Amino acid sequence: MRLPKAGTVEIVPSVLAADFGCLAAEMAQVEAAGVKMIQFDIMDGHFVPNISFGPPLVAALRPHSTLVFDVQLMISEPRRHAEAFVRAGADHITFHIETVEKPLTLVDDLHKAGVTAGVALNPQTDVLKIIDVAPYCEMVLVMTVPPGFGGQKFIPAMADKVRQVRELVGPAIRIEVDGGISPQTVPLVVPEGADTLVAGSAIFGKGNRRAAIAGLRNAVERANVHVLDD
Ligand code: DX5
Repeated sequence: MRLPKAGTVEIVPSVLAADFGCLAAEMAQVEAAGVKMIQFDIMDGHFVPNISFGPPLVAALRPHSTLVFDVQLMISEPRRHAEAFVRAGADHITFHIETVEKPLTLVDDLHKAGVTAGVALNPQTDVLKIIDVAPYCEMVLVMTVPPGFGGQKFIPAMADKVRQVRELVGPAIRIEVDGGISPQTVPLVVPEGADTLVAGSAIFGKGNRRAAIAGLRNAVERANVHVLDD
């Protein structure tokens, strides 16, 4: 499964907010609601103040889904662990620019391993930090909250950062946003160029996941209509 080509707006549920006791069933619910991708938040308790899960969980879920597995490495040593996630079934791997000295080497490694590559930047990290590596990636992830926990409040200043990244990378590279994404914040990021919308509590925090996903999609359509009207 490959990352959808840039140009479509994708809603991406974040596993971190799902019921870990029945993850395969949770994934089947959102897959049935028509999403194409799902995000795995990998946290090492070092780069971020939380510990989540690793390759064994990704490997256990791989046979249960045809979704694109979007793996975000919030870990201090992505180069050391990336291969294990590829073997576990990741389709796309994003690492944080704050954690690597030679990002181009890691992107090359990921491509040679057969997955697509993404680079993420934390809220306080300047867009200029990714100017050299972003053109070689398939996706750029703009964190819209400090990484480490779900259920945080969206940082409004990140909408302009999305605009800056879109200006930097042009139309052919996906821009993912993650943290506090909901029908209320979608209109702040989609018009600025975000096309890959990660949502945890706005989907798995709701009883009816299908309705929650439809609510996000409607917000995208309204935001796009707004763009066309302007
Ligand atoms: C936070 C994670 C996010 C988080 C999103 O570090 O990267 O994916 O799970 O959760 P919400 O949508 O609840 O902010």
